Amino acid sequence: MKKLLLLVATLLVCCACAKEKTFAEKLSELGYTQEDIALIEGLSEEHQQLFSETYEEDLLSFVKEDQFREENLEKYLSFEGLLERKLMMRLVNENILNKENSGKLFILYSKDRFIERNETLYLKYLDQYDDLDEMMEMVNSLRYKELYTDIEPTDMSKGDLILVNKYHALAADYYPKDLVDVDPSLGRGQLTEKTYDAYLKLYEDAKKQGYSLYIVSSFRSYDYQDGLYNKYLRSDPKEVVDTYSARPGHSEHQTGMAIDVSVPGVSLDDFGKTDAAKWLNENCSHYGFIIRYPSEKIDITGYIEEPWHIRYLGIETAEDVVRHHMTYDEYYACFVE
Ligand code: DAL
Ligand code: ZN
Repeated sequence: MKKLLLLVATLLVCCACAKEKTFAEKLSELGYTQEDIALIEGLSEEHQQLFSETYEEDLLSFVKEDQFREENLEKYLSFEGLLERKLMMRLVNENILNKENSGKLFILYSKDRFIERNETLYLKYLDQYDDLDEMMEMVNSLRYKELYTDIEPTDMSKGDLILVNKYHALAADYYPKDLVDVDPSLGRGQLTEKTYDAYLKLYEDAKKQGYSLYIVSSFRSYDYQDGLYNKYLRSDPKEVVDTYSARPGHSEHQTGMAIDVSVPGVSLDDFGKTDAAKWLNENCSHYGFIIRYPSEKIDITGYIEEPWHIRYLGIETAEDVVRHHMTYDEYYACFVE
């Protein structure tokens, strides 16, 4: 009997010992390091309990993030896996991510037209657009600004990929260095050597298809464009002229890499109706050109459709612009700048 009592007493003492184990010791037994334990013990009691049964690797990694704010733990858990962890936590902390917009934000951040420096603007316009691509295209191409505002000098270091538009201007004294004369039987003016070489290939292949292309306009100096723009102003109001003519410094023709193409006997305005225009549209990228002002992008480029205006970019870039269904304004912001 005595022996039995002793055994019971011993068991009770042992149980008491086990009960006295500290929370930290329990955590340590579960595999948490001293560093982990310090972090867990810094949490509220309610949240500490989340770690008391097993080694909670995922949960712990939230706590370890610089972004971690304990008051948002439940929200982090509810959005887990939606976006890259740090990003998701930051968006929760900044009160941007919520149940209503989580799907839209997931898509936004996975778009290949997503430009990090434009993040604040995307978020600003998020609710105003149903179509995310439309909104991002507008932001990327700077169309949230009035046309011809915040004009920056074109970054000439980009070579053949320079951007000239209503927000990026060439210097008045800029002349391409390597202009060559266009054979008068093929059209008028001058082009950069590379542009002309690429055009000759395009011209030959178009001819094989039965299309006899003709260069209506090529290089135009700043002063020439100035004269042209002012001539148009005599017959149309400025807001109308701006839809079809670039202001001086803003015309791609000053780069020597833009060509207005038509076929003999057809005015530029009618060129779009020809089979040659269809062929040009479908094939010019394979020679290094893009149709710079397509009908579906009028709101982005700020110009009416110009099926005749092609811009040289080199084959690789021209084909990539077409693959992305982007204007060059947006493509430049996403992939060149
Ligand atoms: N027509 C084009 C936009 C230009 O003037 O350069
Ligand atoms: Zn043109």
